[in-house]
Amino acid sequence: MFFKKVPFLILCTFSVGLFAQEREITTLSDNWKFTKGEVQNAQNIAFNDTDWETVSVPHDWAIYGPFDKEIDKQTVKIEQNGEDKATEKTGRTGSLPFIGVGWYRNYFSVSKADLEKQILLTFDGAMSNAKVYVNGTFVGERPYGYSYFYFDISEYLIADKENVIAVRLENQPFSSRWYPGAGIYRKVQLIKKNKKSFQHWGQTITTTQILEKEALVHIVSKVNEKNLRIETTIKNAEGDVVASTTENDQFGDQFIQNIKIENPKLWSPENPYLYTSELKLYKGNQLVDSQKIQFGVRFISYTAENGFQLNGKTTKFKGVCLHHDLGPLGIAVNKEALRRQLTILKDMGCNAIRSSHNMPSLEQLELCDEMGFLFLAESFDEWKKPKVKNGYNQYFDNWAEKDVVNLVKATKNHPCIVMWSAGNEVPDQYGSEGVKRAKWLQEVFHREDPTRPVTVGMDQVKAVMASGFGALLDIPGLNYRVHLYEEAYEKFPQGFIMGSETASTVSSRGIYKFPVENGYNKQYEDLQSSSYDVEYCSWSNLPDDDFVLQDDKPWVIGEFVWTGFDYLGEPTPYDEYWPSRSSYFGICDLAGLPKDRYYLYRSRWNTTENTLHILPHWNWEGREGETTPIFVYTNFKKAELFINGKSQGVQEKSNKTHQNRYRLMWMDTKYEPGTVKVVAYNDDGTVAMEKEIKTAGKPHHLKLEPNKTMLKANGEDLIFITVSVVDKNGIECPTATKMLKVNVKGAGSFKAICNGDATSLDVFHEPNMETFSGKLVVIVQSKKTAGPIEVSIKGSGLKHGKIQLQSE
Ligand code: GAL
Repeated sequence: MFFKKVPFLILCTFSVGLFAQEREITTLSDNWKFTKGEVQNAQNIAFNDTDWETVSVPHDWAIYGPFDKEIDKQTVKIEQNGEDKATEKTGRTGSLPFIGVGWYRNYFSVSKADLEKQILLTFDGAMSNAKVYVNGTFVGERPYGYSYFYFDISEYLIADKENVIAVRLENQPFSSRWYPGAGIYRKVQLIKKNKKSFQHWGQTITTTQILEKEALVHIVSKVNEKNLRIETTIKNAEGDVVASTTENDQFGDQFIQNIKIENPKLWSPENPYLYTSELKLYKGNQLVDSQKIQFGVRFISYTAENGFQLNGKTTKFKGVCLHHDLGPLGIAVNKEALRRQLTILKDMGCNAIRSSHNMPSLEQLELCDEMGFLFLAESFDEWKKPKVKNGYNQYFDNWAEKDVVNLVKATKNHPCIVMWSAGNEVPDQYGSEGVKRAKWLQEVFHREDPTRPVTVGMDQVKAVMASGFGALLDIPGLNYRVHLYEEAYEKFPQGFIMGSETASTVSSRGIYKFPVENGYNKQYEDLQSSSYDVEYCSWSNLPDDDFVLQDDKPWVIGEFVWTGFDYLGEPTPYDEYWPSRSSYFGICDLAGLPKDRYYLYRSRWNTTENTLHILPHWNWEGREGETTPIFVYTNFKKAELFINGKSQGVQEKSNKTHQNRYRLMWMDTKYEPGTVKVVAYNDDGTVAMEKEIKTAGKPHHLKLEPNKTMLKANGEDLIFITVSVVDKNGIECPTATKMLKVNVKGAGSFKAICNGDATSLDVFHEPNMETFSGKLVVIVQSKKTAGPIEVSIKGSGLKHGKIQLQSE
């Protein structure tokens, strides 16, 4: 059904969220007791944990550091990077103390009436090797840290007494290629529901048909009892009822409902319209369970003729890959931090996310539904053949199917998900066993969800062309290897190619290297990479090389850039150089601040707003008279550049080189302090837009720019304040390195700080840090009480910065 010229048409609606009186859902976030290290008998009810730390969940025990060169130091040959001898790699997994055992305990009580119910304990993910005990009894385990899982704990509970959940986690060394983090880093919930109720993850909502004026919504609900009745109401985003129906006929453990929505509004990244369905389950006249579910109506297809289509419109993936860490916050999931990331990406014009290389958080999927992002949900970085000694290869045989099943069951109703990925650059690309594994995993995905196709990110393109591995996949995903796209397109039967991973260009925000020359694996003494965006890896390429394929080949269905944000670990090209400890690949840095590359992508991807961005900065004391090229990233075709009023000529995008096609570059400009101005022209020669940057004077004060000023008083909400050192005229000082000290008073607390420097060993949770390239980001968290918040920031020799925020 996925072959060339045969349309693969999928029609779907989807659901998220569960809440109703008949079921009680408690998120266990506060008052967890936690300790690091092995503890005997910590699962027992009577165990005394009073001297353990009290933490809230989501929690990452390793993010507090300190950074240490020796942690998980790996002397390895990274074969997928083409290395032929083993070398010592520091910082590969972030140099933070994630290895070892951690124990968590939490208490809750249940009534006698509760014992008549079914009580589920759900985990959205725990890093890793979770073993879960309730009142001292082992109830189950989950090795893979990214998997969602749950246990029915009804039979282990005691009424009117304190019940204890104990969770033992253990992270092995050499188990990851990036910072995996440590702890119960996603939410944990207790669900109390009637024994006669909806099964957990039991609803599947799809749209089997969308005609011009109506959509047919198909809801399958799995239940725990016979002889029930289901009533379903669908509301539009404005809250009006648009359809309702009752179903008395039960087929085994399921109800099947077909519901018509008239004049449906379709879900898309531009208009992420969500409906709500309210499902009520009755036994006779008694309401026994109910669920409220948000969903979207949309249909997808992948064909050789039209590539990927959303609601009948060919749509290219303008995507980024994201690891699961949130920079200075570590891996502890925070919805506001995720929302900020997506807001930044939305402005760039990005329309798709790939959760590399594992299951995404449910919060991220909820946001992608609401904010409008297409989603490629990935599962594994490793199958049976290892990349790292203690990676997923240990679990593959026993757990791969279970992990895929839970991925699909837990997330299938999200409209944002348009594709599954069974793996990333798995070494099993070699050998006939790997072909069988690819087929098997894809079939598991199809069995669980016949509505979406499956891909694998492939880097061994020659091998997968020869073995049949690439041909059997629904979607052939190529990681890099732009020179092999044509050949793969010819050899593979699908009729299209997707850039499942692209670019891996490296840069450090605000750092520029001279002379400006393209090159791979470039290294400098300061362990930084150039923001002229001309440096990449031996296996990768510059963004422009991908753009050419995306633009010229209709059969290329889009790309997922490596990566949207820098992440902890994998400090290529400095993985052998301490103290590099986080990546350089990001379009934005670890603090979430856009690098220049952000504007290169924005100039192509954001089709509703203009982009006109000048680089480098213009503070080059000591380079007077020296050649200092100027690049402009813009959607306009041509522009004229002026230095202190003198024209440097007009540049126009051309086909001379890939770069000339997408960037305006003045390669011979000489530095002199003052003003650089760019004037972009329309095709008819009129002025379209202007922009200028100026040489800054001495650092004078601080500019504080919060991403919002109101917080919710829920103890979780976050504000991100970008702090810039500026001169007396308010011009940003792009080279300022100033130690800042943060003080937060009132209804908020200091949460973290980050400057985006991949070599900084300062911990994120102490309120002092140096600015890097003149900037850093301060994160403030709300408390559970409302009120004003005052943030003041001091830096020696600088006027204090102060800002008032409000929590309500
Ligand atoms: C890819 C890999 C990613 C990351 C990237 C760096 O090969 O899939 O996880 O390692 O290279 O360029």
